[in-house]
Amino acid sequence: MKVYNKIIIALLAVFILIQFFRPEEIDKGIPMKPLAGVPKNVNAILQYSCFDCHSSQTNWRWYDKITPANYLVASHIREGRSALDFSKFNDLPKPQQNSTIYYSVNKILSGEMPLPDYAAIHSSARLSENDIQTLKEYALSLTPGKPSESSSKSLKNEIKFNQKVKNSPNGLAYVPGFRNWKAISTTDRFDNGTMRIIYGNDVAVKAIENENINPWPDGAVLAKAAWKENVNADGNISIGNFVQVELMVKDSRKYAKTKGWGWGRWKGTDLKPYGDSPDFDKECIECHKPMKNRDYTFTSPLYLISQLKKIQK
Ligand code: HEC
Ligand code: HEC
Repeated sequence: MKVYNKIIIALLAVFILIQFFRPEEIDKGIPMKPLAGVPKNVNAILQYSCFDCHSSQTNWRWYDKITPANYLVASHIREGRSALDFSKFNDLPKPQQNSTIYYSVNKILSGEMPLPDYAAIHSSARLSENDIQTLKEYALSLTPGKPSESSSKSLKNEIKFNQKVKNSPNGLAYVPGFRNWKAISTTDRFDNGTMRIIYGNDVAVKAIENENINPWPDGAVLAKAAWKENVNADGNISIGNFVQVELMVKDSRKYAKTKGWGWGRWKGTDLKPYGDSPDFDKECIECHKPMKNRDYTFTSPLYLISQLKKIQK
């Protein structure tokens, strides 16, 4: 019994001691305002479920302030806010606001957000079936089924994607039509200064709809195109120059030596092929390798509009 008491006292002592260790203060950020143009009920749902980590309006509960929980919460907030900060929402151009909403709803439908371990403890962050339905209907009302269209209107300095272009040093041919494919995802990281859209050809889109993307079927082609984001003096973001397009062409036999994919990158307005030697694609593979169990692709495709409609029924 004595030993038992000693252990309890020792644990208590450690617990009290660690309370002196606190995570670094998180800076306050931009004051949160209601999301412009977003219906009140949608705003309210995002507020109680998401803003804790994705805005300057953090809401620490007493138990979040206890060490070591505070370290975890602080890192969630820091990481969450750097990935997506709703405090900056009102300054974004409309197409980006829409894609933020669309992307957010997708993260909810896929069960990734709100972070499950957080929602388990913080009941206020949990979403009801009704909440999810409301968000889904709102996302659908934004007709994000055509993200490539809405974004292409805002894409200035559009270049001639149909120009004649040299093959990649490994022999892979450029595919001019990719701009007309469906956008299957965007990684719009406001922090790194580029906006990226990932497109899929018909085979890829069909595979997504049938949830048959691991491995991707032969014939699937994924394109990742990047544009610069310009920030003007008022902090507004606009789409700047085209940076590059990268292709991954699936053919498990033809490209067996390069993990089943043909890799290519074309840069700048003249779409100059990237790479000095035929095995330049080692570099691509090296970085995509951690995704080996997902057929070397990073992107989790967004639920396409056709899938959203199916879920809605
Ligand atoms: C406990 C904190 C927390 C809560 C609550 C939370 N998130 Fe997140 N969220 C994160 C973190 C951390 C990341 C970055 C790491 C990741 O992608 O898993 C993230 C990433 C995201 C991303 C991806 C951004 C990108 O660029 O890849 C989206 C979109 C997102 N969250 C939406 C939401 C929505 C919508 C809600 C509310 C329904 C929500 N989150 C609630 C912590 C949180
Ligand atoms: C430094 C790491 C890195 C290198 C090198 C790299 N990629 Fe990627 N690639 C990524 C990441 C991360 C993504 C996920 C999307 C994003 O965050 O932009 C991605 C996404 C893609 C996609 C969209 C499909 C997917 O996997 O999500 C294509 C296509 C692609 N890359 C092609 C290439 C090609 C071709 C090369 C070589 C010329 C290359 N990549 C080199 C990191 C890399």
